[in-house]
Amino acid sequence: MSDNIYTRVTFFSGENVPLEMHKARMVQRVNLISATERLDVLTRTGNNTFLLPNREVFLDMLTDSGVNAMSENQYAAMLLADDSYAGSETFYRLEKVLQGFFGTKYYLPAHQGRACENILASAYVSAKTPNVITNYHFTTTKAHIMLRGGTVHETVADSALATESDVPFKGDYDMGKFDALVKKLGAGSIAFVRVEAGTNLIGGQPVSLASMREVSAYCRKNNLTLVFDASLLADNLFFLKTRERECLDRDLASIVREIGSLMDVVYFSGRKLGCARGGGICTSNEAAYRKMRDLVPLYEGFLTYGGMSVREMEAMAVGIQETLDIHNISQTPLFVEAFGLELQSLGVPVVTPFGGLGCHVDASRFIPHVPQEQYPSAALCSAIYLVGGVRGMERGTLSESRNPDGSEHLSNMELVRLAVPKRVFTHSQIKFAADRIGWLHKHRDLVGGLEFEEEPATLRFFLGRLKPVGDWQRRLVDAFLKDMPSGL
Ligand code: F0G
Repeated sequence: MSDNIYTRVTFFSGENVPLEMHKARMVQRVNLISATERLDVLTRTGNNTFLLPNREVFLDMLTDSGVNAMSENQYAAMLLADDSYAGSETFYRLEKVLQGFFGTKYYLPAHQGRACENILASAYVSAKTPNVITNYHFTTTKAHIMLRGGTVHETVADSALATESDVPFKGDYDMGKFDALVKKLGAGSIAFVRVEAGTNLIGGQPVSLASMREVSAYCRKNNLTLVFDASLLADNLFFLKTRERECLDRDLASIVREIGSLMDVVYFSGRKLGCARGGGICTSNEAAYRKMRDLVPLYEGFLTYGGMSVREMEAMAVGIQETLDIHNISQTPLFVEAFGLELQSLGVPVVTPFGGLGCHVDASRFIPHVPQEQYPSAALCSAIYLVGGVRGMERGTLSESRNPDGSEHLSNMELVRLAVPKRVFTHSQIKFAADRIGWLHKHRDLVGGLEFEEEPATLRFFLGRLKPVGDWQRRLVDAFLKDMPSGL
């Protein structure tokens, strides 16, 4: 009997429901403030959802990073943590878990995903090897590579950029594009080739095992270092299990070990993989290990803690093992699907097929009248907060860096990501968010653009401050109050 039967049930009424395979034993109070108050908050925080205080947010759908609900076994493991600068038992336990999980020999601890990227970029990107090839870039990955004078080249098929699609593995390499890039750049100029699981910026879209095998074979033949970003492996694993024929009957552990064997270096954000807060780099390649090892004490901390709290390391060790539980890894994708179907039924354009991480609303189709230079994804993010107290994340032009000449680098996609961290939200909260976004869609003509008030030079989406072009936010709130007089 397939495990899926337990996680997605059909009610007698015919409704399909992502059934929670856990119960809540500790909860956090959340606040729902009125639309008028939300307008004040948004104005005060520069229309940047990163700057909103939690107390003024109803549903925090900014990210799944570091905010997945942990299991009772993770909390229990935290009590066993062995605090010491060097030689901590906790480190050896975590190292052993990772060796078994990926089948790799060495583990270099680092405090989060971007710390691994810093180490990788320091070790591999140079004037002689400035090029990195990847299925699709991630913001922090690209920033670390660019900081060292490198350039990122992308290889997903053009069809992966269509927001409405039925391609099951949009994160796959287009081998024709890849081969042409390697020939054009010259293999000797390539720092490393990267595969990102659960390709974040195109909507949490998975990579197939078949594609990973092809890329690996190509890299081995051409002597290229293959790096795997496993931060979003949990979601990707669920899609392998449910979308890729040969994985349907394979156990999760053997799939992960095969992926580990295809790669030269694996790194991950433990804020995502393992549902705690940490990270690290795994490899069986001694030369790669030596190349990066000395950078850990320099940037992170000694080799047996890498800048992490030992309590988080214990929680991560348990969380990583729990990635092999289908009920754990199905939770986000099934909730994303339920969210997406609800939004679609209200006419809201969303990225399909539904991916992992969160539900991705397509701002270019939602508010086509807002030009990319006025950051439609950020504007829609603000509007969603105004009408529902829901904190989403801009994933469009604002998340890009400007071109070296100062002009805007227009994003391939204009998305608002509404993250669905594991086991955090209830089905009725998801329905609430969909309902308010449905209302907004009916009033989409009222939504306008944004412009910068204060623009940081790097990763501007984190701390930048913006303001609306015109007074559309006031008018949007007035329209909302007419239909929802309580303002909630
Ligand atoms: N790689 C991927 C694919 C990620 O999604 C992230 C983080 C990182 C690397 C960096 O990891 O945050 O631990 O330093 N993604 C978060 C997000 C920020 O919200 O999508 P980190």
